[in-house]
Amino acid sequence: MINYTEKIPNNVDLGRDRVLQRALEHWQPAYMGWWYDMGPNESHNYEVYLRTAISVEPDGWAQFGYVKMPEYRWGIFLQPRDEKREVNFGIHKGQPAWQEVPGEYRSTLRRVIVTQGDTEPASVEQQRMLGASCPSMYDLRNIFQVNVEEGRHLWAMVYLLHRYFGRDGREEAESLLARRSGDADNPRILGAFNEPTPDWLAFYMFTFFTDRDGKFQLCALAESGFDPLARTCRFMLTEEAHHMFVGETGVGRIIQRTCEVMKENKVEDPSDVRALGVIDLPTIQKYLNFHYSVTLDLYGSDVSSNAANYYTSGLKGRFRETKLEDDHVLAEAEYPVSEVVVGKIITKNVPALTALNERLRDDYIDEIADGVSRWQRVIDNAGIPFRLTLPHKGFHREIGNFAGHFVSPDGEVLSEEAWKKQEYKWLPSPQDHAFVQSLMSGRVVEPGKFANWIAPPARGINNQPLNFEYVRFN
Ligand SMILES: [Fe+2]
Ligand SMILES: [Fe+2]
Repeated sequence: MINYTEKIPNNVDLGRDRVLQRALEHWQPAYMGWWYDMGPNESHNYEVYLRTAISVEPDGWAQFGYVKMPEYRWGIFLQPRDEKREVNFGIHKGQPAWQEVPGEYRSTLRRVIVTQGDTEPASVEQQRMLGASCPSMYDLRNIFQVNVEEGRHLWAMVYLLHRYFGRDGREEAESLLARRSGDADNPRILGAFNEPTPDWLAFYMFTFFTDRDGKFQLCALAESGFDPLARTCRFMLTEEAHHMFVGETGVGRIIQRTCEVMKENKVEDPSDVRALGVIDLPTIQKYLNFHYSVTLDLYGSDVSSNAANYYTSGLKGRFRETKLEDDHVLAEAEYPVSEVVVGKIITKNVPALTALNERLRDDYIDEIADGVSRWQRVIDNAGIPFRLTLPHKGFHREIGNFAGHFVSPDGEVLSEEAWKKQEYKWLPSPQDHAFVQSLMSGRVVEPGKFANWIAPPARGINNQPLNFEYVRFN
């Protein structure tokens, strides 16, 4: 169970480690300062119907109630320790899992934790203005739930930094509160986390595509030989599932509403669809193309000696490492990787160890494809002849083998000029953004009401009705 009587709720017996407790209590006001500055705009007095974890067991989400977000019980929750756990891959395979940081991997591990940690506050910053244009109270509550949990994910990484990395860790924890998404001088570490999230379609796409990158990174870190990191990530994954739910159902509801309006009014032309106040399907496809491609970049270079080192050292595993049936060392194995050679995309085998980023990206793409086919079903069920497609892996990439090449969504390698000419056929144009934003000029907050451009969800939160007062504005 989680101890909520302490200033910092935790299940790591924080009270027994006075030095650590003091360090975290020192960081806490700085965190609150960050939340007041960069958390959801003008939300501090709202009472929000949020879930709070009461234990780290799968059914530990039973507690729902009204909370003012600054009073949310952010804390430190790790999956319980398995005494028999081992390092399951790499050159240390078979050794007992590490309870302390191995000296030789200290700086690498710190970097991995900081990079993960940095994404958490970044997404809160990216989303902070969206409350002003929410399509319903239900959706407003959901974005706030995502935001407080990303805040908690920051706590999770900061705990590791404070507990295991001494002064360096404390400095990194401060820097995590100092960087700002999109800031020219002190940006967040990874590209996609410096992109704006200007509207709700972008928000749902982000939680579908980019939070799912979070899931895959956390899954790889949940395999780590460094046991506290593994246990931390396991619990974070239970929170992540809700974020992806918000994204998948959000986009699905937008598609559903568009299809309904198209059918009712017997229109197909995108400008006629737009005139009816819903988002035309080609624009949804363009948003999909954008968020998919910038998220693919987050996995890093296709061929990477860093990725090989993380694996060989036992720090970061593969997706579902312990369920895979091979030697978990990968000394001989190969893996296919694509590259552009004189205007053609070719695939060749490289040592599997160096291709681990690519492999994780491919695992991610499989899951994404399933989600997109569920969106497609909504369109098919409406009898509308439109196909949503995932663009080619090489489309609109800035990192890895495709960087610097101009690949169309169909996988054709083009000249820069030819690509640029068609850019806004494939990616949202300034006019597309302006249109989407024009639909979202104000917020819809009457209980049970939904903006015209989105269908209501199938059910409410925690079995509450759709017209439940999910947010009290005071
Ligand atoms: Fe997160
Ligand atoms: Fe998330």
